Amino acid sequence: MQYANITGWGKCLPPAVLSNQDLMTFLDTSDEWISSRTGIKERRISHVSTAALASLAGKRALAAAGLDAAELDMVILATACADTLIPNAASAVQQSLGAVNAAVFDLNAACTGFVYGLSIGTGMIRSGAMKKVLVIGADRIPYFLDYTLRDVCVLFGDGAGAVVLEASDAECGLLAEKLGCDSEDRDILMARDAGTIRERFTEVDGFFDVNFEGPEIFKRAVRGMGGAITDVLTKLSLEAEQIDLLVPHQANIRIIETLTKRLKAPPEKVVVNIEKYGNTSAATVPIALCEALEEGRIKPGDRVLTAAFGAGLTWGAAVIKWGERVTALGVCDEELPPSDKTALDLLKPWVEGCRAAVAAKG
Ligand SMILES: CC(C)(COP(=O)(O)OP(=O)(O)OC[C@H]1O[C@@H](n2cnc3c(N)ncnc32)[C@H](O)[C@@H]1OP(=O)(O)O)[C@@H](O)C(=O)NCCC(=O)NCCS
Repeated sequence: MQYANITGWGKCLPPAVLSNQDLMTFLDTSDEWISSRTGIKERRISHVSTAALASLAGKRALAAAGLDAAELDMVILATACADTLIPNAASAVQQSLGAVNAAVFDLNAACTGFVYGLSIGTGMIRSGAMKKVLVIGADRIPYFLDYTLRDVCVLFGDGAGAVVLEASDAECGLLAEKLGCDSEDRDILMARDAGTIRERFTEVDGFFDVNFEGPEIFKRAVRGMGGAITDVLTKLSLEAEQIDLLVPHQANIRIIETLTKRLKAPPEKVVVNIEKYGNTSAATVPIALCEALEEGRIKPGDRVLTAAFGAGLTWGAAVIKWGERVTALGVCDEELPPSDKTALDLLKPWVEGCRAAVAAKG
């Protein structure tokens, strides 16, 4: 029996920080409202492409695993923000990594994408078809946002996280998962015209009509992740107290607290970093996993529970049994290309473009 051990992990957060105070310079909002309703204090805005963020997270994960990119059999890039649709963004990542022997593809399950990717990568290894798989979650949701909508544009940030999976005979890695999609209400979280559905020649360029029904999404997130967690624990005949660490999707601190309360998990068993990065979509789980390892919060043999929820409305939960190694074998010293732009500099054309588009629509 083959298992898929997690042997490497890495993250990439772009340097430009967008604080709640920065948002207050162009939006009718307050640090108090954003912090108390969401738990977010700041988020990052990228000056590089999704593929660039994904590639650096991938390189760091490969260094932690002590692997050469040419050894990879597959690269899965979970993203809803591919830089190009034809070809896929994963091919740009392959090029940057030098993963010349890997099959590569983009996977779009929005914020749940990384959990879906972990399941697929694990499945390929457990079937015996592959030995080494890189799973990356990378997103730039701020690119799509309407900066006149204060309930949505404060929530998201850019980032990427990655893990390396390697075949192992010891029981470890993802032991069980439950994935699904509640498509009946797919329109409550939607960039309505960001795809081939968009009229090719429009008067308002660069504006995406975002529909975001926050309170409804909140309810469905709790239901989706809560149900998936119950299912996955039942599959493994585990009680909640047998979980050593919960690594939830970071969408809203109140969603995390509701799940935590249901599981009766003490705060030291829950990874929360939403205050620093906001919701980075498919990247929240691998970034949080990476930080938990960096902070020494995962021990060999620990059972780690993860759960995510996103547009679709996709949802999923998985239990990972950690292997023997919790420290990185190597470090990648590469950095993103430098930029002298602040987060507000980067956002300025989008804020102005959104205002003009909304005014033009009337
Ligand atoms: C978006 C979200 C934070 C809104 O929180 P909420 O407590 O439901 O707040 P509401 O939408 O009911 O709005 C309450 C009030 O705050 C106001 N408000 C909304 N955004 C605001 C902001 N950024 N600053 C100040 N006030 C704001 C609203 O206008 C409303 O005012 P009103 O009562 O005068 O009409 C919350 O619903 C949420 O996080 N949902 C999940 C979203 C998510 O993360 N989705 C991604 C899933 S992966």
